[in-house]
Amino acid sequence: MVKPSALCALLGLVGASFAATRLNAAVERRVRRTTFPRHELLRRDDTDPSLLYPAYNLSVPIDHFFNDSLYEPHVHGRFNLRYWFDAQFYKDGGPVIVLQSGETSGEDRLGFLQKGLLHQLAQHTHGIAVVLEHRYYGTSFPVPDLTTENMRFLTTDQALADEVFFAQNVKFHGLEHLDLTAPNTAYIGYGGSYAGAFNAFLRKLYPDVFWGTISSSGVTEAIWDYWAYFEPIRFYADKTCIEYTQKITHVVDNILISLKDPATTAELKRAWGLVNVTHDADFAQVLASGLDSWQGKNWDPALNDPTWDDWCNTIKNTSVVYCYTEGLKPTVEDLLKKGGYSSEVSSLTTPFLNWIGWLYENVVSNCTDPDQDNCWNSYNPDNYARDDITATWRSWPYQFCTQWGYLQTGSGVPANQLPLISRTNDLAFESLICKYAFNITTPANVDAINKYGGFGISYPRLAIVDGEWDPWRPATPHASPFNSTAKNRTSTVEEPFLLIEGAVHHWDENGLFPNETTASLPPKTITGVQGQEIKFVEHWMREWKREKAVKERQVKPFGPHSKQKPL
Ligand SMILES: *[C@@H]1O[C@H](CO)[C@@H](O)[C@H](O)[C@H]1NC(C)=O
Ligand SMILES: *[C@@H]1O[C@H](CO)[C@@H](O)[C@H](O)[C@H]1NC(C)=O
Ligand SMILES: *[C@@H]1O[C@H](CO)[C@@H](O)[C@H](O)[C@H]1NC(C)=O
Ligand SMILES: *[C@@H]1O[C@H](CO)[C@@H](O)[C@H](O)[C@H]1NC(C)=O
Ligand SMILES: *[C@@H]1O[C@H](CO)[C@@H](O)[C@H](O)[C@H]1NC(C)=O
Ligand SMILES: *[C@@H]1O[C@H](CO)[C@@H](O)[C@H](O)[C@H]1NC(C)=O
Ligand SMILES: *[C@@H]1O[C@H](CO)[C@@H](O)[C@H](O)[C@H]1NC(C)=O
Ligand SMILES: *[C@@H]1O[C@H](CO)[C@@H](O)[C@H](O)[C@H]1NC(C)=O
Ligand SMILES: *[C@@H]1O[C@H](CO)[C@@H](O)[C@H](O)[C@H]1NC(C)=O
Repeated sequence: MVKPSALCALLGLVGASFAATRLNAAVERRVRRTTFPRHELLRRDDTDPSLLYPAYNLSVPIDHFFNDSLYEPHVHGRFNLRYWFDAQFYKDGGPVIVLQSGETSGEDRLGFLQKGLLHQLAQHTHGIAVVLEHRYYGTSFPVPDLTTENMRFLTTDQALADEVFFAQNVKFHGLEHLDLTAPNTAYIGYGGSYAGAFNAFLRKLYPDVFWGTISSSGVTEAIWDYWAYFEPIRFYADKTCIEYTQKITHVVDNILISLKDPATTAELKRAWGLVNVTHDADFAQVLASGLDSWQGKNWDPALNDPTWDDWCNTIKNTSVVYCYTEGLKPTVEDLLKKGGYSSEVSSLTTPFLNWIGWLYENVVSNCTDPDQDNCWNSYNPDNYARDDITATWRSWPYQFCTQWGYLQTGSGVPANQLPLISRTNDLAFESLICKYAFNITTPANVDAINKYGGFGISYPRLAIVDGEWDPWRPATPHASPFNSTAKNRTSTVEEPFLLIEGAVHHWDENGLFPNETTASLPPKTITGVQGQEIKFVEHWMREWKREKAVKERQVKPFGPHSKQKPL
């Protein structure tokens, strides 16, 4: 990296401090690439929901499946599964609506009790809204530490059984006099992303416990090599940014993979300010830092991750944005030639410089460790060694290493297509965490998930709601046209199948307070889909009441509830 001139220093080249955590950036990146965007923040001016909703625990079995050798040695104990609820709208006969919080602390979901679809559904159906934590996240750990052996109870099957146990056993504080358990009370499930897939399986596997579920951006198809993550981005993002990203990434790969000349590789890394990053794949992954942020886009400006637009606007700016990169012009021109783009030097030099500048400002300068490998080395086993109970980052990687996959590679992209991330980011690289953290060296057993239906999963009163522009769409039942195995369906009230136009990841989940709405917020597509969801759940509740009345008539002459009033 060239030395900034005095003028450039004024433009903000301030030494940013890198929060030195014991988890280095390379590991952290892989960990936080969950199916849920990082930008699930609350609006800063909202009342902290943890002050509004106290946490409760339900004691649930650690091991629900004594018949399955996967969980050997079996244990008989129980653990505390955490939940929160809001009964302000509850009226007799209303449902319990459970939002499964998925692969993060349930605390991160509490805002959904205040506003958004969960809140709206509770309001319209006079139900109780619940946020239920997933085992091995937040405080809901069934084990004292996170050794690989002790991770064995972390499967989607066990967590599904937790939610079923919850529905069959919960007693809500202050409402202990009511039987609010399934099947006496209607249970409705909801969740986004991993938790969306979870809810699809919940309805199909436990139809007598959950009356209906909504799977939002539910990644029901587990895929080991999930290179297709970048396909909706390639398709729907700004065409100019995509073209620059593809071509400059191609230059990088031509140098790293084809040319393989150490001096040119060093020249390339030096140009990006990453000369001391030893492994090519680590280096290439840092370059792609802007790309992950697409899934964090949200229609609510207060929740939206602006990184994508910032990155894209920077690289497509027709002038050099960071003046201190001007000095790299000859180097970049040389790299473009060596990387096979001699004929496009004039059009690609500025985007290349702007990408370098953006990355320096936002990522590279954050690493103040003189040894850059301490920030970005994925190959150091020591970075993954911690397995005490505070190493909570282990949970989602354990799930994707064992069952879900979703390794977002560049190498998987067909040879006749230019990837958005480097082909050096291959399965071996993306699965290093599996090897070093858990000693897992074989692909995830995706069949353990896909046996529940994959793309084709369907069930009465299972709603499938997805986002058109979602990078996770190729793993949902709406994967067509990104995956021809998935078939389009006709949406019905019984089996809703809705694709939200222009939406990214589970955009139906969040909402606004009435005093926050404007003429354009929430957008019509969002109020539209949320309105449909409220309507079909209300319809499902009418079915519930009809069915319950029929059942009660049937049992009346003989059953113990003969004095009970029909609903
Ligand atoms: C719930 O259980 C967790 C873990 O055992 C514990 O840390 C927490 O204090 C409990 N919370 C309540 C409200 O009892
Ligand atoms: C264990 O029992 C459950 C519930 O009865 C069943 O669904 C599952 O297939 C069984 N698993 C094995 C490995 O036999
Ligand atoms: C790279 O390492 C060398 C030798 O330790 C050091 O002098 C130099 O400052 C480092 N460069 C960067 C950009 O970190
Ligand atoms: C391009 O970058 C310059 C310098 O930072 C800035 O003033 C200008 O607004 C940018 N142009 C666009 C179209 O973003
Ligand atoms: C880099 O540091 C800045 C300022 O401290 C911070 O806002 C930003 O999130 C960091 N970026 C990364 C990729 O860590
Ligand atoms: C890792 O797994 C292999 C094969 O499954 C086994 O032989 C080896 O002992 C394990 N290593 C550690 C450190 O557990
Ligand atoms: C399925 O629907 C999507 C979204 O409307 C569309 O883009 C795709 O082409 C359809 N697939 C087929 C096979 O018709
Ligand atoms: C489509 O889905 C199948 C089944 O999961 C997978 O093997 C394949 O790689 C996917 N194809 C694309 C183009 O993503
Ligand atoms: C908007 O409404 C919410 C919920 O009723 C309330 O907590 C918040 O204070 C209100 N904000 C303003 C600015 O009035």
